[in-house]
Amino acid sequence: MKLKNTLRTVRTAAALTALVLAAPALADEEAELVINGEIEIVTKTTAPAHLEGHLDEILSGWRFRSDETQAMEMDDFDNPGMLGAEAGFEQFETVMGTEGKSCMDCHEGVDSLASVRPTYPKWNDDKEAVYTIQMQINDCLTERMGAEKQKYDSVTMLNFEAALASVARGTPMNVAIDGPAQATWEQGKEMYYTRFGQLDLSCANCHEQNYGNMIRADHLSQGQTNGFPVYRIKDNKLTGTHGRFKGCIRDTRAETFSPGSPEFVALELYVASRGNGLSVEGPSVRN
Ligand code: HEC
Ligand code: HEC
Repeated sequence: MKLKNTLRTVRTAAALTALVLAAPALADEEAELVINGEIEIVTKTTAPAHLEGHLDEILSGWRFRSDETQAMEMDDFDNPGMLGAEAGFEQFETVMGTEGKSCMDCHEGVDSLASVRPTYPKWNDDKEAVYTIQMQINDCLTERMGAEKQKYDSVTMLNFEAALASVARGTPMNVAIDGPAQATWEQGKEMYYTRFGQLDLSCANCHEQNYGNMIRADHLSQGQTNGFPVYRIKDNKLTGTHGRFKGCIRDTRAETFSPGSPEFVALELYVASRGNGLSVEGPSVRN
């Protein structure tokens, strides 16, 4: 057991040394984010208590991006993710399904759901499970509107998420990790520290131990989720948290889980809790 652990550590160290380089002077990590000259976004704050011994300070991924990418998020006209949010607002008013209803029939508007983005994933009493925003929307669609279930991380879902995030910008992330959600949170935490793939790397190896360093051509952040959904310049579209997790696990050359799977729901809750205190920032812009 001991030998095995030592070998693993050596292997991981080797994998990381091959990948990680100290960062040259890059983005301004001390820059502050204010959107449209009025919405103040907390992109750096004290870590939540449960991270004691792991991180003292939590930082939004925005701080690790280039000046140009950072600037795109400072004005809604320059943020292509806001087009998704606008589409989400329109979807909210569109009749879908056999009941002839739109979301507006029961909710007063996207603004009335401003508490959703900072508090999800969240325990759902009726379903006795931790629910993501997309799971909740699918319930409203299928159980209350007679509409089709939408595919996880589909454009429609990400547009809804972008609209819900946009009305919550500036509000601190505050997901509950105790009570009935605790077991799921523990499962997510275990995943976060599990090494995946041929590279034998965990989320923590990159995002806890090496944030601030360069990996290949990328400036490693803490892998926070407060900015989701994220408009990725390289893909020209919005990405959801599960899509991002999938990409990160694939980069370790491991088989990965599917968006919407119970594993990714648990991981989403845990990763969100590592960002408790950072402002909701989505739809954000990343490379
Ligand atoms: C027929 C009424 C109805 C329609 C139409 C409806 N919802 Fe809901 N929705 C509800 C009810 C009732 C709840 C509360 C569920 C609960 O917490 O038990 C809810 C909850 C939610 C929540 C979670 C709120 C929270 O505070 O946790 C979100 C997000 C949501 N709906 C989004 C939508 C979207 C998006 C649409 C349109 C696609 C929609 N809903 C359409 C009735 C509806
Ligand atoms: C081999 C290193 C590596 C591993 C392992 C890894 N990631 Fe990442 N991750 C990256 C890189 C590189 C990026 C893009 C730059 C950045 O934001 O850090 C990224 C980005 C992210 C982002 C987007 C952050 C933002 O602000 O947009 C999230 C969330 C994330 N990772 C979560 C995870 C999770 C959860 C795991 C474990 C399942 C994981 N990552 C494993 C390298 C890694």
